[in-house]
Amino acid sequence: MFVISIAALKRNTAILRDVKEAAGCHIVIALKGFSCWKTFTHIRDHLDGCCASGLWEARLANDHFGKSVITYSPAYDESDIAALCEFTTHLDFNSLTQWSRFRETITTHPRFQNGELHCGLRINPQHSTGHTPIYDPCAPGSRLGITADQLENADLSGLSGLHFHTLCEQDSDDLESTLHAVDEKFGHLLRSPQFTYLNMGGGHWITKPDYDRARLIRLVRQARENYQLDVWLEPGEATAIHTGVLRATVIDTFESAGHHHAILDVSATAHMPDILEMPYRPDVFLAEPLESPIPNPKSPAVTFPGESYHLATDPSSPGSTVRLAGPTCLAGDVIGDYTFPRPLVPGDTLVFDDMAHYTMVKTTTFNGVKHPPIAIQHEDGTLETIREFTYQDFRDRLA
Ligand SMILES: Cc1ncc(COP(=O)(O)O)c(C=O)c1O
Repeated sequence: MFVISIAALKRNTAILRDVKEAAGCHIVIALKGFSCWKTFTHIRDHLDGCCASGLWEARLANDHFGKSVITYSPAYDESDIAALCEFTTHLDFNSLTQWSRFRETITTHPRFQNGELHCGLRINPQHSTGHTPIYDPCAPGSRLGITADQLENADLSGLSGLHFHTLCEQDSDDLESTLHAVDEKFGHLLRSPQFTYLNMGGGHWITKPDYDRARLIRLVRQARENYQLDVWLEPGEATAIHTGVLRATVIDTFESAGHHHAILDVSATAHMPDILEMPYRPDVFLAEPLESPIPNPKSPAVTFPGESYHLATDPSSPGSTVRLAGPTCLAGDVIGDYTFPRPLVPGDTLVFDDMAHYTMVKTTTFNGVKHPPIAIQHEDGTLETIREFTYQDFRDRLA
């Protein structure tokens, strides 16, 4: 079961609200990272709207969040544009070919003409600050964003914004160096009165305890002052980090080729694909009855009364090491090797930490594995199951 803590979500979004008030900018939640819309009523007051990756996220934003809908996709088709013109507030383009193809349709639309719809270009400042190539939109040959040389002599009429997204889980020092690159290459546009907004994308790890928020606030204020425009930030991860868990049950344990295996009712490939894709190693807790408390250096994002939690360690530490794996046919559906204070047995509950952002949005029913239900834990501790998945959901997805 995925469980999302409303208290944790509110804690994160209150930090974002404080930052936007201090910086005088707008902050929206990136739905690509977290789109569990039944929680939106709890966070809507803290934020200015949503960042959408295309028509369907934009519709979700408009139907269930309201406020601003900031849409950017690497490419749109005619039907996307026709639908988006009816409600999105910002529409950002990834290429000049897309903008010139749709300019006429958009600029003649009544919402554009009465100032309800604003259009911008995603730029590529060609300034890499990240460490993981698949998350680097500034890597040589990137398809994401328009480079400064492409803009020379381009017809930019009708546009009022620039948008960059170049960070991933980064601090504001990387934003600072990126802003230098943006200024060097695109400052002349930002200083012109035609451009009224600058969207600094996501990847700002604002809610991480040691993130330098004071510097972010200073940088945003400087940009607003230097360019005389509105600044937008669209964090996904920072909104939902440490707000949810995936609770799993051990369904079998056995030994094979010298390894102890535990097969769970959740899968790396179907339910936590970033373990394999990114890749990364999640924190895992063994839930035990409270009567047998265990030393607990850390707690999962969601805890239940009556349970205590033991953080599994890596295999070099003493204890019982087991390979946690999913129930699919994929040989590599392995979560990792973890060490617990005792051997796992069927029926044990394991809690995978930090599973709300970029996890719930990516799940599948590969192999027909059961999709975990989704629950929210309210601020008073009560649990509400907001979605259960059935065989019919699996059957109906593909025809
Ligand atoms: C254009 C854009 N905006 C915002 C985000 C959100 O980034 P994050 O979740 O790292 O804050 C992304 C993530 O890929 C993105 O591509």
